[in-house]
Amino acid sequence: MVDMPQHRPHHDIGSLFSGAKDFLRVCAPMVRYSKLEFRRLVRQNGVQLAFTPMMISESINNSEMARQKEFSSAVDDEPVIAQFAARDATEFVTSAQLIYPYVDGIDLNCGCPQSWAKKEGFGCELLNHPETVRDIVQCIRRTLPTDFSVSVKMRLLQYNDTATSVLKTIELAQQLEHCGVTFLTLHGRLPTQKNHRETLNVEAMADVRKSLQIPLIVNGCVDSLKDARELHEQTQAAGVMAARGLLANPALFNSDYALANSTPRACVQQWLDIAEAAGDHLKFSCFHHHLSFMWSDEMKRSLRIPFNSLGSKSEVLAFLDEHYDLRPSENAASSFAPYTNCTYNHFTPPRHARHIAAEARKSEWDENQDGKFFSEFKTQQLVDNNSEDLELGDFFGDDE
Ligand SMILES: Cc1cc2nc3c(=O)[nH]c(=O)nc-3n(C[C@H](O)[C@H](O)[C@H](O)COP(=O)(O)O)c2cc1C
Repeated sequence: MVDMPQHRPHHDIGSLFSGAKDFLRVCAPMVRYSKLEFRRLVRQNGVQLAFTPMMISESINNSEMARQKEFSSAVDDEPVIAQFAARDATEFVTSAQLIYPYVDGIDLNCGCPQSWAKKEGFGCELLNHPETVRDIVQCIRRTLPTDFSVSVKMRLLQYNDTATSVLKTIELAQQLEHCGVTFLTLHGRLPTQKNHRETLNVEAMADVRKSLQIPLIVNGCVDSLKDARELHEQTQAAGVMAARGLLANPALFNSDYALANSTPRACVQQWLDIAEAAGDHLKFSCFHHHLSFMWSDEMKRSLRIPFNSLGSKSEVLAFLDEHYDLRPSENAASSFAPYTNCTYNHFTPPRHARHIAAEARKSEWDENQDGKFFSEFKTQQLVDNNSEDLELGDFFGDDE
């Protein structure tokens, strides 16, 4: 067991679940989107546990630039779980040692079904190698103090018939429990299934939950607090996670707005204030995309398309001021804890030729480009001339 520095005391994630009134409200890991500023927004609206976007262990372990670009934190960024895509125990444990001072736990992505990830041996490709997943968890447990949460986010295992798929998923989940994971997250679909409501296997999630002693977070198609409560009732899971639903309405878990079917205006105001306090830490595209996702329902068609094409923060602020009488509050900049100066001098990752090559490689997602989800969102708004109500959920296919 190594001695590690801590920037703040770690949350006991296990007792977070046991202390939850009914179920823990969880914000999903979302590439490009579940960053510090969005985590702040959803926590102000009922989220009790938030994940970072998936980071690639290989890049984080070997590039200070990647570390500074992909992860930011502040003392109020808690409780938080950092998610990584890794191929083996060495990569994952190295990332855990680097990020340990700033987060409450580390999560292994075993759910990403995208072909680039599978080719690299990441994401749901790991579900084909249960021995590697077990080894990763055991290595973390041997290396880091037990107050640090270790978890795995997975899908149902791919088999031709549902019964075998559920059985094999239960088998792996129980093995991971035995290896020492703090909790598991299950997205109730096979790797080959698209994110449609009909493909979500709620019964399988309930069966997996019944087979475990550790907390299970269930995930899939939670678009409202009512959906979250229903999924909890159907599965009795200790936690319910939302991704696309929170993009469309970051106040989804806020019981003050339980009956709202779109983002409350107060939540947009909170986003403007968080963005104001963030200054240059929050990239324009992230600021803008979140507003498009959360506020497009509120916009008339004639305003949505020009809004999505705006190119600077000042243009967006002028637009919201003119059309919606919305602007950052006067004291916004001083209302949040300052950004932590995240340093990683406490640990020097081992360097290998493969890792050095990875450092030189372009990042998988370029902040200056729109990305698949926002591009599809924009296109949909251009082509869909007949329906007045656009649903954000329709724009997302597989995991990014
Ligand atoms: C924009 C976007 C980015 C995502 N990025 C990640 C990620 O980084 N890691 C991960 O495990 N899943 C990721 N996912 C998958 C979600 O966490 C979630 O499992 C999936 O969207 C199903 O939940 P939902 O129906 O609530 O959207 C992403 C999904 C979306 C829409």
